[in-house]
Amino acid sequence: MKKLSLVILAVFALTVGITATAQAKAKGTPSLEKGEELFTKRCSICHTKTGEKMSGPGGGPGLLGVAARRNHDWLVEWISNPNKVFKEMQDETIKMKLEQQIQDKEKTSMISKKLTPVQVESIILYLNTFK
Ligand code: HEC
Repeated sequence: MKKLSLVILAVFALTVGITATAQAKAKGTPSLEKGEELFTKRCSICHTKTGEKMSGPGGGPGLLGVAARRNHDWLVEWISNPNKVFKEMQDETIKMKLEQQIQDKEKTSMISKKLTPVQVESIILYLNTFK
């Protein structure tokens, strides 16, 4: 009987330990380093850090000064779910809002694979350095 409760205790402790580690990983803290790495992997095929638009179909606007143009909340929304924001803007006066950078179309050309909030914040930290 004593042995059994020890085993149960061990399993319990292990479970708590694993859960805590997983949570820490998912939460983490946003960092410039993470942001730079993510930008290089996920964004730089379509965006430059300068004012230059990326050439080719689907090429995005240059992101120089983007953090000054766009507020933080907008950036979080856009990076997390560009199509949703695009649609909302289209319903309003989208073309004014996205200036001339956008073409007349139903969906944004921006592809965004799922990012965690920490990843999004990290990317924004990095975008803040484009000035
Ligand atoms: C497949 C190409 C593509 C990828 C990948 C991509 N984008 Fe974009 N992005 C675009 C396009 C194109 C636009 C302009 C909207 C449009 O025309 O659909 C845009 C717009 C933006 C804007 C708004 C710029 C402005 O001047 O208002 C930001 C900010 C942005 N992208 C950030 C990112 C970030 C951060 C990533 C990486 C997580 C990323 N993009 C990945 C194509 C892309």
